[in-house]
Amino acid sequence: MAMQTTNSFSSLVQSLGEFPPDAVVFGKSEAMQALRARMNKVASANVPVLIQGESGTGKDIIARMIHALSPWKSGPWVKVNCPAIPGTLLESELFGYEKGAFTGAYGSKPGRVEMAHRGTLFLDEISELDLSLQSKLLQLLQDGQFCRIGAQEDKKVEVRVVCATNRQLENEIETGTFRQDLYYRINVVNLQLPPLRERRGDIEDLVHYFLAYYNQKYNCRARALSSDLIAILQKYHWPGNVRELENLMKRYVILGTEDVISNDLIARNDKEFYNPDIDLDGPISLKKVTRAATRELERKIILKVLQAHHWNRKQAARALSISYRALLYKIRDAGLPPNRIARKRPEALVSEEVGQDTAVV
Ligand SMILES: Nc1ncnc2c1ncn2[C@@H]1O[C@H](COP(=O)(O)OP(=O)(O)OP(=O)(O)O)[C@@H](O)[C@H]1O
Ligand SMILES: [Mg+2]
Repeated sequence: MAMQTTNSFSSLVQSLGEFPPDAVVFGKSEAMQALRARMNKVASANVPVLIQGESGTGKDIIARMIHALSPWKSGPWVKVNCPAIPGTLLESELFGYEKGAFTGAYGSKPGRVEMAHRGTLFLDEISELDLSLQSKLLQLLQDGQFCRIGAQEDKKVEVRVVCATNRQLENEIETGTFRQDLYYRINVVNLQLPPLRERRGDIEDLVHYFLAYYNQKYNCRARALSSDLIAILQKYHWPGNVRELENLMKRYVILGTEDVISNDLIARNDKEFYNPDIDLDGPISLKKVTRAATRELERKIILKVLQAHHWNRKQAARALSISYRALLYKIRDAGLPPNRIARKRPEALVSEEVGQDTAVV
């Protein structure tokens, strides 16, 4: 599906249900297409699914989609955000308790496992469960049985369990904090969400979508981003993934100026150490990785010198002992903004390109 203009996104937003349109959620990358096919296949089968991926990659959305596509979609959707519930309360929250089970248990209370009967139980950040709760969960997954705290007998439920984590559970198994047998139980089907920097081809469509979405939501008329800025967004490494991009676009829609974004990204980039994206599963090209690292270092040096010279590019070129034209080329190549006056439309900046440097605000 070709999705180029902000207008085509506006119509998508109007028909928006609970989720962003599939074309936005899955984009065009091979990894996301494969994930979508896997998700569609597994949604209807009553097997546990483990969703893994960095923070902000969309694990929550995928979990909800699995429920919405499942035969249990009219049943309850029960989410448990494990880190949000203090360890001591988590057991009663999950499995419930009987009257008198502990001080303060004046009545009995069902847990979320029971509430999810004939629906989906979504356990978010599963690595937070301590070992005793991991055993109870294992029992639930093995025979659908569990025991309320203080109860004499086990109860039986039918629940579809979906788990998510942004940690490498394999490492937790090695350190003894996660049970290997539970890992095999929850990981019948694994959905691995790629980080946004590994699907940069989808960034532009996400930008258009969030622009249309938040323009509509906040009744704003923020304009489409300039191609220069989109190029910057495509090069940024997005440690906070889609959530970070979404928040950036929200801020842009509300504040309405592009320099909000470009200055923000430059500041973020500056703070971070260069961390090369190396795919350890495939062959590594030392040459390629080193070239990328050198380019990144060059980008930082140019940025520092530009900032030191208040974005006067002629002075910066002199300081760097390169020609003015070479600097312009490098600025473009590094995805840096042409100058600090990002409030100007890009058309206005083109005529200035070979001419004089503008004074910088
Ligand atoms: N593929 C996507 N398409 C559209 N929006 C997305 C996509 N992925 C994530 N988002 C948006 O980004 C935000 C974060 O997504 P989500 O909560 O699903 O991430 P997460 O992987 O569960 O993160 P965490 O590990 O921090 O819980 C949400 O507002 C969600 O709507
Ligand atoms: Mg989440």
